[in-house]
Amino acid sequence: METTRWDIRLDGRPWEGPEAMARYQLTPEKFEMTEGRLFWTDEQRETLLALLLENVGARRAVQLGNPAIWKQAVAEDFFTLIETRHSVRAYTSQPVEAEKLQRILRAAQIAPTAANRQPFRLVVMETHGREADLRRLYYREWFSQAPLVIGVCAVPAEGWTRRDGKNYADVDATIAMDHLILAATALGLGTCWVAAFDPPVARTLLQLPDGMEPIAFTPLGYPADQPSPKTRKPLSDLVIATCDDDSTR
Ligand SMILES: Cc1cc2nc3c(=O)[nH]c(=O)nc-3n(C[C@H](O)[C@H](O)[C@H](O)COP(=O)(O)O)c2cc1C
Repeated sequence: METTRWDIRLDGRPWEGPEAMARYQLTPEKFEMTEGRLFWTDEQRETLLALLLENVGARRAVQLGNPAIWKQAVAEDFFTLIETRHSVRAYTSQPVEAEKLQRILRAAQIAPTAANRQPFRLVVMETHGREADLRRLYYREWFSQAPLVIGVCAVPAEGWTRRDGKNYADVDATIAMDHLILAATALGLGTCWVAAFDPPVARTLLQLPDGMEPIAFTPLGYPADQPSPKTRKPLSDLVIATCDDDSTR
């Protein structure tokens, strides 16, 4: 039977061989392994991919050497991710791992910004012991349940301004926050956009200098709720088609 050799990377690192085999319950009977590399048929590769996706959870952790398969897996993961994200309004007190927090902040860092000005600042706050302050910032009980609250601020003076005077700093800050939120979802963490906070309290609590505008906050922690079904306007209400085309209905 013809076999193909594929390189596998997990979390960007090379496949760890037997240890990973055990971790993901891949038995050598299913996949032949030599010198830390797996050999398998196309059919076995599909099984392996499914097994890895199922077991690793954060699907982007799995990278198969075949770019086509990888791209397909990434694309599917993305659509699963955006369907999975929901506003979490109940959290456990389980700490957020430092590595996860770093990856989440990195996701915000690489967000696109107008003219690459990056006119935003992220504020990471531990909630423990600051519950009363956080309640003044935003009055919901769940807001300080998670171990962390992250705020994003815009710095208009650093932002790109369009010819008609429109400054894009708050748009940039919002995109960074959305990257952060999606990254958190990918790592099994919950978030909830909060715009209904008290701006003067935010300024005092975060000791924001003039020229820094608080835009949004989110708790960051492990969810203790279940997502409710998504209610959205139909696409036909949201998309203005400019040609006679029924693909958006
Ligand atoms: C800019 C923005 C501000 C929001 N502000 C709040 C808020 O202050 N409090 C809150 O509970 N949810 C807030 N949300 C969450 C929305 O209510 C939520 O995204 C929407 O109902 C859709 O639900 P889903 O996020 O679960 O898909 C905000 C969302 C966005 C995008």
